[in-house]
Amino acid sequence: MRILSGVQPSGALHLGNYFGMMQSAIALQNQGEAFYFIADYHAMTTVSDPKLLQSNIHEIALGFLACGLDPEKAVFFRQSAVPEVHELAWMLSTVTPMGLLERCHSFKDKIARGFSPSHGLFAYPVLMAADILLYQANRVPVGKDQKQHLEVTRDIALKFNEQYGEVFVIPEPDIREAVATVPGLDGQKMSKSYQNTLELFSEAKPFSKKVMGIKTDSTPVEAPKPTEGSTLLALSRLVAKPEEYQEYESSFRAGGKGYGDLKKALLVQLERFLVPFQEEYQKLKSDPKKVNEILHEGGVKARSVAQKTLEKARIAVGI
Ligand code: AMP
Ligand code: TRP
Repeated sequence: MRILSGVQPSGALHLGNYFGMMQSAIALQNQGEAFYFIADYHAMTTVSDPKLLQSNIHEIALGFLACGLDPEKAVFFRQSAVPEVHELAWMLSTVTPMGLLERCHSFKDKIARGFSPSHGLFAYPVLMAADILLYQANRVPVGKDQKQHLEVTRDIALKFNEQYGEVFVIPEPDIREAVATVPGLDGQKMSKSYQNTLELFSEAKPFSKKVMGIKTDSTPVEAPKPTEGSTLLALSRLVAKPEEYQEYESSFRAGGKGYGDLKKALLVQLERFLVPFQEEYQKLKSDPKKVNEILHEGGVKARSVAQKTLEKARIAVGI
């Protein structure tokens, strides 16, 4: 089984990334041939500062390795180490109906948020389809927000295979419905673009300030607190041990504790969860050469797999 996923270097890694995608991707490295990459070409649709893009790429690499990605087990690389992806994206774009891309929520959302409607942003899902099909991936672990992009990938692959013969494996999305969407500080989906994130690798002070600032309702201290839709509980469920979560939830139902105390308790749970990753991150940070070597070696391996698929596609289309 081949597993593949990617993350855009468009900002710092946060809890939404971890629970939506990284945790299951990292676990899957033990179950098949895993290919994980940093989608730097994709990030160009929203990040136009070259220095920022560079440092984001490095941060994402550190973050994945610190969270347990093992380069002995998974091929870890930069999307741009395999420029063949663009040739495949072009081939795929010739069988992609405009309407399929026009329906994509992510394009509409980004425009609504003020990004310029560039061709790159519009064609984003075709490049993503090329990322996946180039490696003949069977399973793609992603967060729920990528579901539509996976459906587009499957549609494009089916269309191409129908027209040119069985060239591509049809990939299956692997979405953790139990996690679905990790809420951010304001209760909306945690996302870099909503500025409501809890980063995996931030300094202690700003981190605790953010946790203490999580939006809550105005239930008085003595009264039981609503559990339905509570951001505090949703985050606790992800990071606390089951017994600890049960106890935390009971203290909501019982009343008598204010949101300030409940946030402090959550902060302890979050910090305990993140400390091992943060320690690993600091170690890796002191050895940037090693991180670059890992990405370079991963790029070489990924490219040789990609070239085989591209050759197959070229023959199929008659080029
Ligand atoms: P991005 O940072 O948008 O490139 O997302 C990287 C991965 O993290 C994708 O698989 C997303 O679906 C996932 N992800 C990002 N934010 C969240 C969230 N708030 N909840 C669940 N998954 C998320
Ligand atoms: N679009 C994905 C995101 O924003 C990142 C991505 C690019 C990706 N190519 C991919 C994810 C291929 C999975 C497979 O999260």
